[in-house]
Amino acid sequence: MIRFTKVSKYFGKEPVVTDIDLHIDKGELAYITGPSGAGKTTLLKLIYMAERPEKGEISVSKWDLRKIRQRRIPYLRRDIGIVFQDFKLLFNKTVFENIALAQKIRGVKPDSLRENVDRILTDVGLAHKSGSFPEHLSGGEQQKIAIARAMVSKPLILLADEPTGNLDHASAKTILSLFKEFNARGTTILIATHNSALFTDTGRKVIYLKDGKIEKETTG
Ligand SMILES: Nc1ncnc2c1ncn2[C@@H]1O[C@H](COP(=O)(O)OP(=O)(O)OP(=O)(O)O)[C@@H](O)[C@H]1O
Ligand SMILES: [Mg+2]
Repeated sequence: MIRFTKVSKYFGKEPVVTDIDLHIDKGELAYITGPSGAGKTTLLKLIYMAERPEKGEISVSKWDLRKIRQRRIPYLRRDIGIVFQDFKLLFNKTVFENIALAQKIRGVKPDSLRENVDRILTDVGLAHKSGSFPEHLSGGEQQKIAIARAMVSKPLILLADEPTGNLDHASAKTILSLFKEFNARGTTILIATHNSALFTDTGRKVIYLKDGKIEKETTG
């Protein structure tokens, strides 16, 4: 589903990720870990083409990112749900509107849009917060809204960047069980985190990044 072959990305002359080979199969739930600055966010950005590599090949779903035309990039992004490290919720819009926006952009009709948003809010346990504004939600609730927004259009792939960053252990566990559930329903998931508690004893693939290189790949 996601394949990197000898991928390198530079910012100026500085290599940020170097010579990355990785492969995430359809249906996997895998982790990328490593210290701050290791290149985790950059690696995710390469997948949804917010950054382009200087070297190597990347394929995502049916797309060869070297060959994809500019006007096709939105179609690639329709296959990918993204939970950003800083959420990127719109604070002047309600929870409902935040999630609905992703559907509107895709031209989903109002009736199905409402149904889809209500369903995903129920899935993450926040149907009662539909009319609230993000600033009135706790960090864990905001994180769940960010996940709901990424998942409402049922993407093939979910990328989650430090999805439990500011959460306590119990909230982090709730978020993880949501990911497991979406994964069980068929979404391929890649989670970037420096928090090893998330993947310890999961039996899932863990890719260790250090200074932009893959240090090792193990099972958590
Ligand atoms: N647009 C950019 N221009 C220049 N340097 C950048 C840019 N984006 C990231 N970097 C640098 O690339 C390196 C990797 O950054 P990245 O955000 O990918 O790390 P990370 O592993 O996600 O870290 P964290 O755990 O803190 O989120 C850092 O040294 C960062 O300063
Ligand atoms: Mg990061």
